[in-house]
Amino acid sequence: MSSLLRPDLSDYSGASNLAFNEEIKHMMDEGTTIYHFGFGQSPFPVIEVAVEALKKNAGQNAYLPVSGIPALRNEICSFHARYDGLLNLDPDNVLVGPGSKELIFLLLNVFNGNVLLLSPSWTTYKPQCLLSRHNPVIIEVHLDNQWKVTPDKIEQAVTGMEGNKLMILTNPDNPTGAVYSESELRALSDTFRKHKIIVLSDEIYARLNYKQNHASLVKYYPEGTILCTGMSKWASAGGWRLGYHIYPKELSTLKVAVKSAGSHTFSCAPTPMQFAFAQMLKDTDACENYIKHTSRIMAAVSEFCCRELQSVGMKLAPPSAGYYVFPDFVVIADKLAKRGVTTCQQMCALMLKEASVALMAGGPYYLRPPEELTTRLCFVNFDGTDALDFSRKLGLSEPLPESFVKDFCLPVHDGILNLKSWVQKQLKDY
Ligand SMILES: Cc1ncc(COP(=O)(O)O)c(C=O)c1O
Repeated sequence: MSSLLRPDLSDYSGASNLAFNEEIKHMMDEGTTIYHFGFGQSPFPVIEVAVEALKKNAGQNAYLPVSGIPALRNEICSFHARYDGLLNLDPDNVLVGPGSKELIFLLLNVFNGNVLLLSPSWTTYKPQCLLSRHNPVIIEVHLDNQWKVTPDKIEQAVTGMEGNKLMILTNPDNPTGAVYSESELRALSDTFRKHKIIVLSDEIYARLNYKQNHASLVKYYPEGTILCTGMSKWASAGGWRLGYHIYPKELSTLKVAVKSAGSHTFSCAPTPMQFAFAQMLKDTDACENYIKHTSRIMAAVSEFCCRELQSVGMKLAPPSAGYYVFPDFVVIADKLAKRGVTTCQQMCALMLKEASVALMAGGPYYLRPPEELTTRLCFVNFDGTDALDFSRKLGLSEPLPESFVKDFCLPVHDGILNLKSWVQKQLKDY
């Protein structure tokens, strides 16, 4: 009998980050102590105004317009005017969906042309490309340039390329925490414009920029940028499933096609969530307070992790936003080789066994070579409720104390110290 699966999906598997999380969670449920740095979701409680608004709207059960209710689309435009200085957004160009992941997938399905991805990049883009029958062109970026792409790399990739081009740029980045400055975005925009490259700018971590100085590509390349974001990260509402795209009028063909695809797949984003988020966004003070406190907590945790890891010679680019860092364990490569460990996957398995630290291996899931010892470390394995309460009581005019990570993010603190000792042990004993 012939295979039930499309032949081009023979290598296809489920979301690697979700599978890894389930495996580690299972071990933890069985009573094993594990410092779980392998899964990235907000450590904070859902922003309180949204919870209250959801309670009020729990009874809303009608199907809604495919692209989302006007009240929500209007508030989304005001939100980006306030935070990103995007003053000319049109609510008619906003497409709300059940998570930004779904909208990216539908866009890839309707798009005709070449898709460009960076290496490393978020684990979902490539599998989505395969599902939507694209064979993506991969552009390598390097730690030496803080994992950021440069105009010349893009030039090299698109020279001689026929047909339409869609590049996915994640800013701030998952898995590296890299953030592009205004001048970098300006320079990239010149290249995008020159080669008519459409960019899906995935800015879902924008509000978790530690300095609160996120620059949106839409400002520099408005005619070719599709802004992709949602409520999963900054509002800590990943499981509520609400994300959105904002299309430029120049790309209305794509917007209409993605909307049609949405009408045939998800129908509308969850109704109570749409009303709740519309109300939440209206409360600008509550949003601002939440964003400022949560982003400064993440900055403190990130700084602690990077400082400790760098103190034992780990190579990394300190992130400027979000939950992740992408350290390279090259410092112990020779020592591991003596132990017969030559791939990132093997190293992570050994680390889990010997140091009870769970990190997701870089390697092919992140479009990296298997022997490169990069890993994605998510520093969110703490309960953010107390951390947030403390930060709020302290007030924003006072800095967080030195002991903050130890006092409020103990599993991160202890896990990083465990990891550090494990690295030291490799250096000393082998
Ligand atoms: C870079 C990036 N984009 C998009 C998403 C998807 O977010 P959602 O579908 O919850 O909006 C994630 C979630 O992990 C992400 O890390």
